[in-house]
Amino acid sequence: MFDTVIKGGTIFGQGYQRIGDIGITGESIKEIKFDGSLEGEQVIDATGKLVFPGFIDPHVHIHLPFMGTNAIDDHESATKAALVGGTTTIIEMICPGPDDEPAKAFAEWKGLAEEGACCDYTFHLAVVRFDKLAKQQLRELVANEGVQSFKIFLAYKGALDISDENLHELMLVCKELGIVLTAHCENAELIDEKQKQLIAEGKTGPEWHEPSRPRNVEAGGVQHLCEFAEQTGASVYVVHTSCGEAVECAMEAKERGVDVTVEAVAPHLVLDKTYAERLNFEGAKFVMSPPLRDKEEHDALWNGLATGSVSTIGTDHAPFNFKGQKDMGTENFTLIPNGIPSIQERVDLVHTYGVCQGKIDLQTMVEVCSTNVAKQFNMYPRKGALAVGSDADIVVYDPNFVGTFTHEDGLSKIDYSGFEGMERKGRSDVVLLRGKVVAQQGKFVGETGSGIYLPR
Ligand code: URP
Ligand code: ZN
Ligand code: ZN
Repeated sequence: MFDTVIKGGTIFGQGYQRIGDIGITGESIKEIKFDGSLEGEQVIDATGKLVFPGFIDPHVHIHLPFMGTNAIDDHESATKAALVGGTTTIIEMICPGPDDEPAKAFAEWKGLAEEGACCDYTFHLAVVRFDKLAKQQLRELVANEGVQSFKIFLAYKGALDISDENLHELMLVCKELGIVLTAHCENAELIDEKQKQLIAEGKTGPEWHEPSRPRNVEAGGVQHLCEFAEQTGASVYVVHTSCGEAVECAMEAKERGVDVTVEAVAPHLVLDKTYAERLNFEGAKFVMSPPLRDKEEHDALWNGLATGSVSTIGTDHAPFNFKGQKDMGTENFTLIPNGIPSIQERVDLVHTYGVCQGKIDLQTMVEVCSTNVAKQFNMYPRKGALAVGSDADIVVYDPNFVGTFTHEDGLSKIDYSGFEGMERKGRSDVVLLRGKVVAQQGKFVGETGSGIYLPR
């Protein structure tokens, strides 16, 4: 007799899809059987539903002091939103400023997460400061705290960007320690120049955000990162890739032997740059970096996901309110805090606009939204798998649910939805985190603060 049995759903296991039962005791999966014989004290009927491993978001911002303000969610609100959307583990970016010590930043972010996180979490640590003390602390965090990935920005001049000299040395450190370097690929200098020029010409609205950071500048950033990786042998991961040109640069480098992995994020797959051109400053809701592109780029990204050149889908959840935050840039688009939240919507967006439109299949959806993330970032098979011994992070998914995305359903503290009124097919019906039901039909039903830190 198991604590819980999930009965009769189509299980997306390791290399198979088959109707069966999952037996859970305590926090982990104890048995998977296909003859209907498992019995549990609690039985969750999954007939007609899909049973997925809990989804993992590889790119989230919650505590984010950025562009003169701070992202509006806290760990409680963001992780509740994640869970109702089927995401049971997040990787948050720790983004300290140029004067901040990495160790203090790690302690600050972890402390905040410990207070309220409802799903499991781990971190990518941004390397902004890189003096002697910082270098020593980075090594200690890897050795003692289970940090397994750093992050660098080739954008945000003077705030978060890294010099080539430091990038080179950091890559050597990553190679030596065997950890992944994740990277925001653009070019801080080129963007800065372009922005100054546009503002001087009186081009101040949010519609000028995309022209200020064109596709070739992003692709150039990928090229730059890959050149350094080629020289140093470091493993690199390109975050929030927005266009085919950037994916191609990464794939060309891969063919030369560079260990590079590409991430897409939900907004770039379903929204296009016309959203940022909306009148009356509405476009500010859709300002993120790299920017939303032409609609044609959606297919380049979906094709990349279908063929394996793009390996993961995250969100880059970075919520800034329209009123009181985005409007800091009313007179000047360069002052609009960058970010489009989607931590709650990611899985359903991928299902609706990827699977239901025939761009990717369900197995690929599971891989890119869960399994590949767990493998890339050293959490597999504890996370990202429906397998005996894995954490019982499980999503019973209703593919037949039909609705619309709306801000009203959101658990994030954000004051708008970037997907308002868009058609939605599918919903996480029941979500389990380490064996406990934490979300049901769009409602959080778990215990606040029950997420744990995952040292990797
Ligand atoms: O627009 C974005 N992406 N905001 C969050 C910071 C970042 O660059 O990831
Ligand atoms: Zn970024
Ligand atoms: Zn980001």
